[in-house]
Amino acid sequence: PQVCWLSPEQTAGKQKPYMYTQGQAVLNRSFFPCFDTPSVKFTYSATVKVPEGFTAVMSATTWEKQKDNTFVFKMSQPIPSYLIALVVGDIVSADVGPRSRVWAEPCLIEAAKKEYDGVIEEFLVVGEKLFGPYVWGRYDILFMPPSFPFGGMENPCLTFVTPCLLAGDRSLVDVIIHEISHSWFGNLVTNATWGEFWLNEGFTMYAQRRISTEVYGLPYTCLEAATGRALLRQHMDATGEDHPLNKLRVVIEPGFCLFLGINPDDTYNETPYEKGYCFVSYLAHLVGDQSKFDAFLQAYVNRFKFQSITADDTLGFFLEYFPELKEKGVDSIPGFEFDRWLNTPGWPPYLPDLSPGQQLMRPADELAELWAADGLNMEAIEAVDITGWRTYQLVYFLDQVLQKSPLPEGNVKRLSKMYPKISKAQNAELRLRWCQIVLKNNLEAEYSKVKDFLHSQGKQKYTLPLYRAMWGGSEATRALAMETFSATAPQLHVNVQNYVKKILGLGGAE
Ligand code: BES
Ligand code: ZN
Repeated sequence: PQVCWLSPEQTAGKQKPYMYTQGQAVLNRSFFPCFDTPSVKFTYSATVKVPEGFTAVMSATTWEKQKDNTFVFKMSQPIPSYLIALVVGDIVSADVGPRSRVWAEPCLIEAAKKEYDGVIEEFLVVGEKLFGPYVWGRYDILFMPPSFPFGGMENPCLTFVTPCLLAGDRSLVDVIIHEISHSWFGNLVTNATWGEFWLNEGFTMYAQRRISTEVYGLPYTCLEAATGRALLRQHMDATGEDHPLNKLRVVIEPGFCLFLGINPDDTYNETPYEKGYCFVSYLAHLVGDQSKFDAFLQAYVNRFKFQSITADDTLGFFLEYFPELKEKGVDSIPGFEFDRWLNTPGWPPYLPDLSPGQQLMRPADELAELWAADGLNMEAIEAVDITGWRTYQLVYFLDQVLQKSPLPEGNVKRLSKMYPKISKAQNAELRLRWCQIVLKNNLEAEYSKVKDFLHSQGKQKYTLPLYRAMWGGSEATRALAMETFSATAPQLHVNVQNYVKKILGLGGAE
């Protein structure tokens, strides 16, 4: 399952085949012999011979093209097995900064360069200022074919990203900041087991929002964090707060066979990301001073770099670094015990204050309120000008509309007509929300948009919510789900295929 072989039709250019690997969480064992656990780190080198007209790239610190289309790669820093990755395809590159270039199929390279020219370096510089040296040499970005199942994958030196990021306006750059943040949290300091995946993702979400705050300011970053909180709410509502996967520390046991135990890939949900973010924010809140907490994060990276650790190591170091907090017994404040954070499922006991984002959220809240009313107040609605709104402000607005859906009969149809910027959007984050609204309101006239969106890309976090919504809806949306899946299944990553099968009751393994 690790190596994905794509036919020419499954690429953007539709001319040549393509292959890529995706190691995280436990797929690299089917690619090369290894200790396939994040607790073991090693360096590697690889020699890859490819056919004429193809290029090979890997997550490595150096690479060299030799004669006979042979590429030689070396990763000189110790990394866990899941961070080894290879792509072979018709790909070209363009510089976007002093240590960064973008890679893409020839037909996408122009757009790729335009999206990120001159912006990557600033994120790296801010990251270094906050968390210490960037040890990986280069930071390059590879735009993957549309079926790539993730927004981004932090393969060292060479992040893989979905082509959905090519929005034309840099609006989805938070994904890049996220993957850059893994350069310290995840790739340098690594979770020793997949049961503590939140150590990678929760710290990375925190680091991402620290960089975002420095570059884009607090209001915008709080708005982005609010959309993250909405995703956590949706996830917990869908799974039930008490679900055992809604703990930060998940018990991963093999079970009797692969299908009965918990597959580490199942921990890829909003809990390690957004509840993890809340826990790290809570630690910062205990410290009470941002610069002191930043200094702690830098000391933490320095203390554990190139190692794999557990939450006990992290929290032990936190209490050692702040002895006055240890003395006060902050690890056992009733209701906020560290043990409870780690081992109790459910909504986070502490939420960071996102009110600095109110100036951007309030107009969106008010507008959603207007659209949810019986008998629309069109005068009030027309008085709100959304033409200048940022993408995440629209996303936040749509999340509010979705939460209030189904809206009174006819409202969504009107909304669609009023805001073609939303209902005809090309931006994937907007398309996802619009499709969710279409389904929840049974807007049959626009079902084709759901189908088109699912045909255009295969990202897991877009695909599964839409199939869940279709399967939970009417006879018509169930039929739509079946029809769409049978047409697109061969293009989806095998993991995503299996999760969709599970949703549709087709006997896949979740
Ligand atoms: N490392 C993850 C992707 C991943 C997780 C792959 C689990 C395989 C198993 C990556 O860093 C990530 O979190 N991507 C997010 C980006 C978002 C949080 C900005 C994604 O793809 O949605
Ligand atoms: Zn991540």
